[in-house]
Amino acid sequence: MAQRKKIALIGAGNIGGELAALAARQELGDVWLFDIPEKIGVAQGKALDLEQNGAVLGYDAAICGTSSWDDLAGSDVVIVTAGVPRKPGMSRDDLLSINLKIIRRVAENLRTRCSDAFVIVVSDPLDAMVYAMKEGTGFPSERVVGMAGILDSARLQLFLAREAGVAVKDVRAMVLGGHGDTMVPVPSYCTINGIPARQLVSAEKFAAIVERTRNGGAEVVKLMGTSAYYAPAASAIQMAKAYLNDEKRLIPCAAYLRGEYGYSDLYIGVPVVLGGRGVERIVEIALDPGEKQMLDNSAKAVRELLEASKKL
Ligand code: APR
Repeated sequence: MAQRKKIALIGAGNIGGELAALAARQELGDVWLFDIPEKIGVAQGKALDLEQNGAVLGYDAAICGTSSWDDLAGSDVVIVTAGVPRKPGMSRDDLLSINLKIIRRVAENLRTRCSDAFVIVVSDPLDAMVYAMKEGTGFPSERVVGMAGILDSARLQLFLAREAGVAVKDVRAMVLGGHGDTMVPVPSYCTINGIPARQLVSAEKFAAIVERTRNGGAEVVKLMGTSAYYAPAASAIQMAKAYLNDEKRLIPCAAYLRGEYGYSDLYIGVPVVLGGRGVERIVEIALDPGEKQMLDNSAKAVRELLEASKKL
């Protein structure tokens, strides 16, 4: 008999709560919302609220709050948001030492209890955290990915749509590279229902939009004093769905590279095919020299972050 999928969410904070809400509404499976013992009440409270929400909205999913790792045994998908978010004025890299310790502890626990899971890391600084997760769990790299590209591309899509005066859903955009100030929006792959976006948005406006995208996370942090959570959660759920339903989505994710794009032994945002085997393929696209140079700079910044991690 088919069993419901089991989805573990590590961190029951802002993103964790929204992840649980989306997973439940879409009936992806039963949801375990995990947090540290001091926050067990928050995890259990959100879980109960969301189960009651199911009675109103008509979805059916068991949602439980826990601080016991044993409850997560056998999870199909694990989404990790454990850690500390940014405060105004902080860069994602400022979170490195605090969140690295947390991610290492999480990885150790996942390794023994969730050895078959597909793991999506959201905690920042993303490219270093997802690397630490792969190292700590020892899981094959196709089952450990980072969420950044969908979110950064979504921000670019929104800004382009507003500028061009068209529906957001008609805009496709691509943002590669590290999830930080060096991220690489790729204008040559931005289209509005197949039309190159550069035909509908002036070069000057495009450049301003690219800059706003790079600062898209900081813009939200400045407004509300903490990191964004609706769009990050929706982005991670899209990845979870691609895996659970073997959707073969071609989307940008932080993936482990072995020579692709000329980089090895690092995680960085690249287009991948996500399906039932996790990262089924890394897609290498042609970049013009300027774009490749930006990707090189981004890879260098990620590499520096990894070097800093090794000393911690
Ligand atoms: N194990 C599990 N959960 C933990 C641990 C741990 N060792 N340490 C901290 N947490 C929990 C916190 O108790 C908190 O409930 O992680 C949760 C984080 O939630 P928020 O503070 O609301 O942060 P959120 O906005 O959800 O962002 C989480 O994602 O996008 C990134 O920069 C963001 O790194 C941040 C992460």
